[in-house]
Amino acid sequence: MPTRRPLIAGNWKMNGRLKDLAWVETFAEAVSADNCDVLVCPPAILLHAFAGAFQGQGISLGAQDCSPEPDGAYTGDISARMLKDIGCTHVIVGHSERRDGHGETDALVRRKAEAALNEGLTPILCVGEHLQEREDGRAVGAVLAQLAASLPDADATRLVIAYEPVWAIGTGRSAGPDEAQEMHAAIRAAWPGADGAQLRILYGGSVKPDNVEALMACADIDGALVGGASLDPASFARLVNLSS
Ligand code: PGA
Repeated sequence: MPTRRPLIAGNWKMNGRLKDLAWVETFAEAVSADNCDVLVCPPAILLHAFAGAFQGQGISLGAQDCSPEPDGAYTGDISARMLKDIGCTHVIVGHSERRDGHGETDALVRRKAEAALNEGLTPILCVGEHLQEREDGRAVGAVLAQLAASLPDADATRLVIAYEPVWAIGTGRSAGPDEAQEMHAAIRAAWPGADGAQLRILYGGSVKPDNVEALMACADIDGALVGGASLDPASFARLVNLSS
């Protein structure tokens, strides 16, 4: 069974300023884990500045979204090719704040993931059920359907899945380790290729230093996608240290 190296990814969402370059120094001083991959996804306008600051600190650079198109007349959009050009290795696609807030469909998310793969970026493909689906006992079915419809054709090593229950994002209410493990195991079992054991599946939704250890102890949880708790560098470093 291949070992899956943990990945802790910070998603800053629409937060941060140029002055926050100091984040990197504080994080680097506090982090001590070396058997865990660390990725940070600042807003697009800060990617270039942070690309330099992350270099040599063991922090990979990721974006929060990309266009499905490689270039062209798409005002306001940013392509995977541009992200690659300035040093990104990863891009989040299909976050629920884009699916729900910007009407992104599974088909569009799949095209974005394909665009990322075409440029050699690793897509972090997000899926997750709404509260009503969980309360109705339909969470696993809803997530597997969403995944099947938004998943591009790719080897398990070329992308990352993030399971983020919508009701847990930014609410302080995380899924319990058992709930999360059940979903992660279902996602892995449903993987269409023979290499599902190599697939990294992150949990996201109110991950903090005080719940990350219990989540990371689960057999099929390979890391975390962290929103609010990634903004504070000391807290994010603690979270990384506890995850490895
Ligand atoms: P949160 O966000 O950690 O603030 O809940 C997670 C996410 O949306 O990726």
